[in-house]
Amino acid sequence: MAMMVVAPASEVTPGTSHLYEVDGVQVLLMQVDGEIRATAGLCTHAATLLGPFELLDDGLIECPSHGAVFDSSDGQLIEGPKCPALPVYPAEVDEQGMVRVALPAPEEQAPAEQDPFGGARSMSAWFANPGATPDQGS
Ligand code: FES
Repeated sequence: MAMMVVAPASEVTPGTSHLYEVDGVQVLLMQVDGEIRATAGLCTHAATLLGPFELLDDGLIECPSHGAVFDSSDGQLIEGPKCPALPVYPAEVDEQGMVRVALPAPEEQAPAEQDPFGGARSMSAWFANPGATPDQGS
């Protein structure tokens, strides 16, 4: 993972998830109780984009596709269809007021339109084994 500049901290207003793409990686930023948090921008259920949407109370993220609810503090699935936890990335605000996030390499996060396994069932398998090829998926 490398620390990457994602956006000015001033853009990350409370109450909403903010979706960005940095070098092919989808990242979701949000502000919860004054803390900037960063998670993967693709749902682990079927790889749909997770923002920009209104956050639920306590920094919970609800995927609009099938209702999975994730805790943005640790990525754990709270309710909804069975799927892996949402990856959470370390984030900080630098001296220039920019949000920097430790992001995975693009090949470690499959954008929805490039889902190597071709769908919801297999995206969960991809998150469980991100280096696998479609032939190695479950
Ligand atoms: S894609 Fe998010 S819950 Fe199905």
